[in-house]
Amino acid sequence: MPKALIVYATRTGETEKIAELIAEGIRFQGAEAEVANVTGIKKEAQFAGYDAIAFGSATYHGQMMKGMETVLFLAEKANLEGKVGGSFGAFGWSGEAPDRIYDTMKNIFRMNMASGPLRLKSASLGGGIKMAQDYGREIGKKMIGS
Ligand SMILES: Cc1cc2nc3c(=O)[nH]c(=O)nc-3n(C[C@H](O)[C@H](O)[C@H](O)COP(=O)(O)O)c2cc1C
Repeated sequence: MPKALIVYATRTGETEKIAELIAEGIRFQGAEAEVANVTGIKKEAQFAGYDAIAFGSATYHGQMMKGMETVLFLAEKANLEGKVGGSFGAFGWSGEAPDRIYDTMKNIFRMNMASGPLRLKSASLGGGIKMAQDYGREIGKKMIGS
């Protein structure tokens, strides 16, 4: 069964909720999904064996969280070219982090990216649950098709 890894960086838990919902959407499509906090990712070998990887960070002071920055430098060494990718994050008003992550995955890692980044003000408001699950479904479909 194809397998996805969803890695998140959060301060108050919103981005973790989005990560769990994306994982649900991937599972709806019949693929496996594991969810991990950036704090648990220490080696590039931890990216091995996945068909898809999604990275997510909340935006603070116009930037992704430091832990996600560190993990992206690790991922750069993991040869993720051609694997399915997605990016996401909770935000308040500007939401730069998911965009920056998406651009890095597309231009540096050369991953087979979902249609765009997922930015949500809250996982539980304004249709956020369905949007996050649908993003997972999109990733799942690309995994099954790839
Ligand atoms: C000190 C501080 C700075 C923030 N800076 C930004 C920002 O630059 N842009 C933005 O869109 N949201 C900003 N936010 C809002 C957070 O991104 C938002 O609360 C988000 O839901 C937090 O996600 P998390 O629970 O995953 O940490 C900021 C929040 C705080 C407390």
